[in-house]
Amino acid sequence: MPSKRAKIVGTGMCVPERVVTNDELAGMMDTTDEWIQQRTGIKERRWITPGQMPADLAGEASLAALERAGLGIEDIDFILLGTLSSQHEFPGTSFFLHERLSAGEIPCIDLRAQCSGFLYALNFADSLIQSGKCRRILVVGCEVHSTGIDPTTRGRDVAVIFGDGAGAVILEANEDDDDPAGILHVRLHAQGKHARRLWIEAPASGEWPCRISKEMIDEGRHFPKMEGKYVFKHAVTRMPEVLTEALAGASIKLDDVSLFLFHQANLRINEYVAGKLEIPDDRLFNNIERYGNCSAASIPMLLAEADREGLITSGHIISMTAFGSGFTWGSAVVRW
Ligand code: UT7
Repeated sequence: MPSKRAKIVGTGMCVPERVVTNDELAGMMDTTDEWIQQRTGIKERRWITPGQMPADLAGEASLAALERAGLGIEDIDFILLGTLSSQHEFPGTSFFLHERLSAGEIPCIDLRAQCSGFLYALNFADSLIQSGKCRRILVVGCEVHSTGIDPTTRGRDVAVIFGDGAGAVILEANEDDDDPAGILHVRLHAQGKHARRLWIEAPASGEWPCRISKEMIDEGRHFPKMEGKYVFKHAVTRMPEVLTEALAGASIKLDDVSLFLFHQANLRINEYVAGKLEIPDDRLFNNIERYGNCSAASIPMLLAEADREGLITSGHIISMTAFGSGFTWGSAVVRW
């Protein structure tokens, strides 16, 4: 069977209704709206309210993507969900999304590649479709960070950047030989030697005799820790590198890209990367000022918003690039 190109036929997103401004955070920890905006570009983010689950956000995003594609869950062969904040330690989030979508017996998995999770998932989905094993795949990125951060001065460097949200796309085998739309190239990398520079130490199955203790909780070892400047330096080096590699793999020139979507970790990182590659402002789309860093959800949320705002139309070339914990990084080139 000839290999088929996979194309995106639907996008969707969902964020909680509760808006948390920088001023509200300043009431919880020693920070200011000015510091957060200057260092990160973030003005506000969304947090879930009691009773709201990651699978609820992922469910709404998935239904929006299915509707946009004119499809139902019965048309989907596989569900792949990228997250670093799974609803439960095991089995994860995708199974609760599966339940929420009444997905029958469709296989589903969580994929853990942190802020690069959506691009990793896209790559696997693309391969499953190209191999002919699947025809349509629901690819989701979903994070609930708000319940995992340290909302005090001790955790302020990480607490101010994270937000909650979900984004989803439907990937479908392009069976029309005359339609050039599809995933053109995905390039992924990882370097585990940096894993402890941005991580959550516990609970950990290697921690003996118990995954987490009261002492560990008292020491805050269950909160995310980041060596911010170290991560920043790697992000602004690796993102331009991998973006350039992916474009070369797709045989696309930088000038031919209609829209660049970067992981939304810090607006300064994105401005730096754009400056280095001389990408004009009007070909860059960010939403970090409204949602903060939603890790694996950031890129599919950007896609969904750009799609609805008419920034993406048929024939456009989209370049998507991410960097995150692991370290992981990657870039994908898509023709719409
Ligand atoms: O999504 C995955 C990948 N993540 C990233 O790419 C994030 C990369 N890193 C960053 O975006 C930045 O490092 C941060 C935004 C997290 C921090 O910005 P920074 O300019 O690197 O600040 P810093 O950590 O070097 O801290 C500078 C000062 C410190 O005070 P002193 O030691 O100079 O007195 C911090 O304690 O700012 C202080 N600080 C804060 N002040 C007010 C740290 N966080 C805050 C805060 N509000 N929220």
